[in-house]
This record gives sequence, structure tokens and C-alpha cells, in this order.
Amino acid sequence: MKTVSKIFTLVLVVTVLLTACAPKEADKLIIGTSADFPPFEFVDEDGEFAGFDIDLINAISEKMGVEVEIVDMPFDSLVASVQEGKIDMSVAAFNYSEERDEVVDFTTFYYYAMDGFLVSEDFADEITAPEDIAKYIVGCQTGSTQNAYIQENLIDTGLLPEENFFTYERVDQAALDVKAGRIDVLMAEAAVIGALKRKWAV
Ligand code: ARG
Repeated sequence: MKTVSKIFTLVLVVTVLLTACAPKEADKLIIGTSADFPPFEFVDEDGEFAGFDIDLINAISEKMGVEVEIVDMPFDSLVASVQEGKIDMSVAAFNYSEERDEVVDFTTFYYYAMDGFLVSEDFADEITAPEDIAKYIVGCQTGSTQNAYIQENLIDTGLLPEENFFTYERVDQAALDVKAGRIDVLMAEAAVIGALKRKWAV
């Protein structure tokens, strides 16, 4: 199925999550990410972590003179893992939110993100505002700001029936489901939708 990406200017800032606790081993930082999110974090053809956030992690490591270990985890477990001190920090294209701010610390932001939709070409013209996706089968990543947006603006308002909404542990899986026609719309960062389209020709 041919897909199209639609971008709306829901601007969010992307930052790094930190725990207030000191690292368990002073000479090594354990950093959690969810490597399903090109161009921020993904696994490349050689099986290595790659992307903007991975470069950022390596720059932090170099500047601090500490070794880092990157751990790939489900996105919706990262905040709790930082909070519980299982990892020292998380770099995973996190947007600021008050809810997250109550339990972890944020660094200053390093990127302005825009949200977008990956949709089938068949009805791309019918989506001219974010609420228009409520007529379709919609997906997004579990625990993401997009999940919160859809819940508050489309589900809680009765626009999108709950049975037409699916959350995914991995964004790349959701993009493949759009391609396969199992869902109609994926909501994620616009840059990620562009990268997934290029990577898999979705
Ligand atoms: N920016 C969104 C959020 O903060 C989604 C981030 C998803 N990141 C990832 N590595 N899968 O909730």
C-alpha cells in the first residue's frame, strides 16, 4: 500500500531523562534507549546502535571521560527504569511532560519536534487536521506523548472509538502495520515517519 506522511505543527521539545541518583559504578554510565526510532535511535545494518541520540550519548561519554553501556528497552519502561535507578539516564527522543517531570529530571532540550502521521495514500487528502484521523484505525507507541495526545483529544472526547485505537511497544512495528493495511494511521514524530518511510519504503 502506498503511504503518505502528513505533518502538523504540534511542537514539542526533546530532552534527556536523568535520575537524581549517582551512577552505581562511577566509571560507567548505563543508558537506556528504545532503538526503534530512526533517525534518533535505531539498529543499523551491522547490528550497531546508531542515530542522533547515539551520537549524543557518545559525545557525553567522551566529554565526561566515562564508559557507557547502551541498553535497548521498551519505550514505556524507560521512565520507571530511570526513576528506580535501574539505568542512569535515558536518551530516547523524550518530550518534556509535567507528568514525567514529577518523577525524573530533564536536561535542557536539544531538538524541536513536530508530530506527523503516516497514512495510506487512499485517504491522505481527507486528513487536513489532526482530529480527522478519528475516522480511521489509529496506532502509536505505548506511553508516548502521542499516546497521551490521542487519549485526551480523541478517545476521552468520544471522537475515536476505543476499539479503533492500537498502541505498540515499537514504532517500527506500527509503521509496518500501516504498510500491511492492518491500521490506517500511525502518529509519531514527523522526522521519524520520514525516516521509516525511507528505510522500509513504507
Ligand atoms: N517523543 C515521544 C515521547 O516523548 C516519543 C519518543 C519515542 N522514542 C523512542 N525511542 N521510541 O513520548
